[in-house]
Amino acid sequence: MDTEEYPIKHKEILLEISEKFKTPTYIYFEDILQENVQKYRDAFKNYGQFRQMYAYKANTNPAICKILKNLNVGADCVSEGELHMAKYTGVNPRDVIFTSNGKTDESIEFALNFGCTINIDGFEEIEIIDEISKRLDKKPKISFRINPEVNPHTHDKIATGVKESKFGINIRQAIEAYKLAKQKNFEILGIHCHIGSQITEIEPFIEEAEKISKIVTDLHDLGINLKFVDLGGGLGIDYPHDGNYNGLTHDDLANGIIPIIENLNKDLGYEIELILEPGRSIVGNAGILLTKVLSIKRTPYKKFINVDAGFNDLIRPAMYDAYHKILNLSNLSDGDEIFDIAGNLCESGDILGKNRKIAAKRNDVLAIFDAGAYGFSMSSNYNSTLKPAEILITKDKKVKLLRGREKFEDLLKIY
Ligand SMILES: Cc1ncc(COP(=O)(O)O)c(C=O)c1O
Repeated sequence: MDTEEYPIKHKEILLEISEKFKTPTYIYFEDILQENVQKYRDAFKNYGQFRQMYAYKANTNPAICKILKNLNVGADCVSEGELHMAKYTGVNPRDVIFTSNGKTDESIEFALNFGCTINIDGFEEIEIIDEISKRLDKKPKISFRINPEVNPHTHDKIATGVKESKFGINIRQAIEAYKLAKQKNFEILGIHCHIGSQITEIEPFIEEAEKISKIVTDLHDLGINLKFVDLGGGLGIDYPHDGNYNGLTHDDLANGIIPIIENLNKDLGYEIELILEPGRSIVGNAGILLTKVLSIKRTPYKKFINVDAGFNDLIRPAMYDAYHKILNLSNLSDGDEIFDIAGNLCESGDILGKNRKIAAKRNDVLAIFDAGAYGFSMSSNYNSTLKPAEILITKDKKVKLLRGREKFEDLLKIY
């Protein structure tokens, strides 16, 4: 499916939605979600034990979580809230991993009671989990997040496995961590690593897989036999026209990783389970953000299209200089003027798209593409704005309101 063409194909429905539900509004497409899960399944079909744990942080709309759960996709959770969501959605705790560099006591208690895998991030956390699990009389299922010192060649703010990163146990201390864990009443299940997001080259994944495999073999020699290797998420998607995508596919990823894990299996004498935690590549291109043109401004220096969304709705352009394709659904012609698409927050950095050739007038509806991942989930009420509505277009093309736009009363809630 050509997802770049998708919003154009659904133009009429989208314009109707913008009338009925107003803007800004997120729209998600169920069939793209499904297709994205299948792409992983197809690419990894020749590896026996392969599991996807969807990274909830990318988009935790309950309906999206439910669709993915029904497709037998697990959950990678990073907070107590996300654990609650996995439980609410009905994900089997066996398919849930809890990762965070700063776990609150309450989140650890929740994870222990839920029975999911707790992914330990540091040495002190070994003691904390030991103490809390003794108090609750639970035997924790654990893995360790390892920082493999791999440069993913992506934006600095989404590189998570370089040596200065706050995440994980440094690779040089990995064996020591497992030895300590072995002295505790822990069920040691696996090893985890996540080197970054929007990765578009295979080499960092290969380096990650090789370094982690070496640790698994060393642990095996010490009598610690892991059940899973979790290589995290990170597969980049094509944000059309941003110029930074070189077409790394699911097949490339599988062809890069699987031989390394198969070699590992030879050393181990058994097949280890391979887990990936995709987020962006599951929901990114399955969502768009609709926003309405409020006014056009032409200054002697620059031209602006002022819209009713901002970085409170979609922070990626402001935070990561991310490029999102923006199309005027009310007028598909290219136009001959260059505009910045300006958000309506009181911040100069609130620009959703820079230097775009586009024709637009007041009340036109623009679609911001590939906004399904790290869109709504990173939204805020900055400037006392209301979080947008979220809508699903189902496989049979029904329009389903998933979550209504916030109301001013929501900003006044006193607990
Ligand atoms: C631990 C972990 N796993 C998985 C992901 C998902 O990454 P992506 O959305 O790039 O696939 C992230 C995102 O930052 C993460 O921190």
